[in-house]
Amino acid sequence: MVLLENKVAVITGGTRGLGLGIAQTYAAAGAAVVIAGRSKSTLDTAIAELEANGARAAGTTCDVSDLEQVEALGAFAVETFGKIDIWVNNAGLSAPYGPTTAIPASAFMRVVNTNIVGVYNGSMVALRHMLPNRSGKLINLVGRGSNDRDGVKFQNAYASSKAWGRSFTLSLARENEDSGVGIFAFNPGLVDTDMLRQVEVVPGFEERVKPLETVMRLWANEPDLPAQKALWLASSATDGKSGLLVNVLTGQRVMGGLLREALRRITGKPAPDMSLDIRTLAPERQQS
Ligand SMILES: NC(=O)c1ccc[n+]([C@@H]2O[C@H](COP(=O)([O-])OP(=O)(O)OC[C@H]3O[C@@H](n4cnc5c(N)ncnc54)[C@H](OP(=O)(O)O)[C@@H]3O)[C@@H](O)[C@H]2O)c1
Repeated sequence: MVLLENKVAVITGGTRGLGLGIAQTYAAAGAAVVIAGRSKSTLDTAIAELEANGARAAGTTCDVSDLEQVEALGAFAVETFGKIDIWVNNAGLSAPYGPTTAIPASAFMRVVNTNIVGVYNGSMVALRHMLPNRSGKLINLVGRGSNDRDGVKFQNAYASSKAWGRSFTLSLARENEDSGVGIFAFNPGLVDTDMLRQVEVVPGFEERVKPLETVMRLWANEPDLPAQKALWLASSATDGKSGLLVNVLTGQRVMGGLLREALRRITGKPAPDMSLDIRTLAPERQQS
């Protein structure tokens, strides 16, 4: 079924990882897709990949922390495909793993500027296009921290930014509940991407991140699984349902992962490779 026929979707951070998975899924469902990221070479590779799969795709470099660049991204989408129906604030970053007091201020601020300021910028630009038309779907990515009432130690920058993302998105949805625009918070669960595999850590915290390999083996998915959920969110199936917080990692999936792992052990099948690329933060970077 072609769920997004004649729709135009903007996906920030659509150049790799989950964002590229969402772009591919939306394009396969009939949408024209506009992707953006900071790296020009990654952008070009992603557009070539999308086009090779038959997608109507375009893109531009954009750092979401800069409002002018996000406004230019919105204008680029309208110039290229005539309108914006769907906007996914997917671009996101994490800081090195470790105590908040040992994280360089610059790394902490990068997370704030991308995961908070970037989501604010993207939401404002998207709503400026959507509210006058009384239609559209705005999807903001949340994640670890958005459901944790007790806080998340050693991942404070990321987790607190995602808690903010949840509150910000659901507040926006409430403020605009009669607007005709669907506003959703989307937690994709664990996704096997660079963000998960490439982990920077504060010296002395290397062993503490190792259990993530087991967690990934149990519950990480390829981007196409959460992308299907993002497709559902962007489709007419969610008309009139603004304000949803959708989690891919449900209790059923948690149980499914445990059962799969038990079966793998019983049958003696080799474990899939979930090795992490753990990089220790240089001591001098801890000060900057
Ligand atoms: N992977 C997971 O398990 C997981 C779980 C829950 C939630 N999420 C959320 O899902 C989203 C995508 O994560 P991912 O795992 O796919 O990450 P990823 O593989 O690291 O990809 C991140 C994407 O965002 C772009 N990006 C980063 N900072 C940007 C900025 N300031 N401006 C514009 N683009 C920027 C990157 O391109 P450039 O580097 O070229 O800019 C890249 O395209 C994030 O919001 C993340 O928090 C992921």
